[in-house]
Amino acid sequence: MRLLDALKSSTEYLEEAGIEDAFADAEILTFDAAGADRLAAYMENPEITKELLSKIRRLIRRRAKGEPLQYIVGHVDFLGLTIYVGKGVLIPRPETELLAEEAIRTVQSSKFKVQSPKSSSRQRSTIPALRILDLCSGTGCIALAIAKATPDADVCGTDVSRAALRFAKKNAEVNEIENVSFLEGSLFAPILGSALFDLIVSNPPYIISADIPRLQREIKDWEPLEALDGGTDGLDFYRKIFADAAGHLRPGGAVLCELGFGQAAAVKEIAQKSGFRDISVNKDYAGIDRILKAEL
Ligand SMILES: C[S@@+](CC[C@H](N)C(=O)[O-])C[C@H]1O[C@@H](n2cnc3c(N)ncnc32)[C@H](O)[C@@H]1O
Repeated sequence: MRLLDALKSSTEYLEEAGIEDAFADAEILTFDAAGADRLAAYMENPEITKELLSKIRRLIRRRAKGEPLQYIVGHVDFLGLTIYVGKGVLIPRPETELLAEEAIRTVQSSKFKVQSPKSSSRQRSTIPALRILDLCSGTGCIALAIAKATPDADVCGTDVSRAALRFAKKNAEVNEIENVSFLEGSLFAPILGSALFDLIVSNPPYIISADIPRLQREIKDWEPLEALDGGTDGLDFYRKIFADAAGHLRPGGAVLCELGFGQAAAVKEIAQKSGFRDISVNKDYAGIDRILKAEL
């Protein structure tokens, strides 16, 4: 059998299983299993061994059962970083790259640096230029993207999930990022008593509990519930984060968080009631209010 014959039968198998992007998924899994470059696969269409065919079929059967493509491949790209994913951790979404980019823009802006009280003495001291906290860190994608773009910053990520933290630590290692640490515990608990932060960033669970059974099976049956469930109105984590955020920020510090669909007004009100004054919201690629920035 040749590679493109395997691709054809894989596509048919996924179509029969009701997988929406059957051809695209079959192509990725078949070529990935063969270690084949897409162009070369089409140009050369090599003969494949029985062992390779069994490997391709194993991967295709996993996808047919609804397992997310990214879990099967094992990694995703996040702002140029290779982020390993698998059972037990949320797959980073493209809109979260916007949150990380906004965080990087914020910490690199001259206004932000000037406002930090210790900045004048920092260059001579061992105090890192910036301290950034990523709550609900998951794979660590946001913390790692910020840490890579801001090598003089000290970035810390927290998460309750031990499985997620294992991925986050591996992701720091494979991307050779050292100015980041990951701690286990709920929200601020692991950093209680530590120095204040310049920026708190978070993509918390924000799905309304009752909506979870209606999500795609790739999400509801495979991704961790604790990464999705934002409580009865989806806002539980925003209330908890903003209740404590000001106490962990230096003067002039800010909170940046990702929002679920239709949550901007409610989260803005939560931030205002918690003492944040400059509050702005940015949209994602689909025109949905997605990123809220609240400054003290
Ligand atoms: C929506 S995922 C975000 C993961 C990652 N930051 C990203 O953007 O891809 C939310 C994460 O919050 C974590 N989580 C849930 N409850 C938490 C809590 N009380 N404290 C800290 N993390 C929590 C979950 O384990 C999950 O990793």
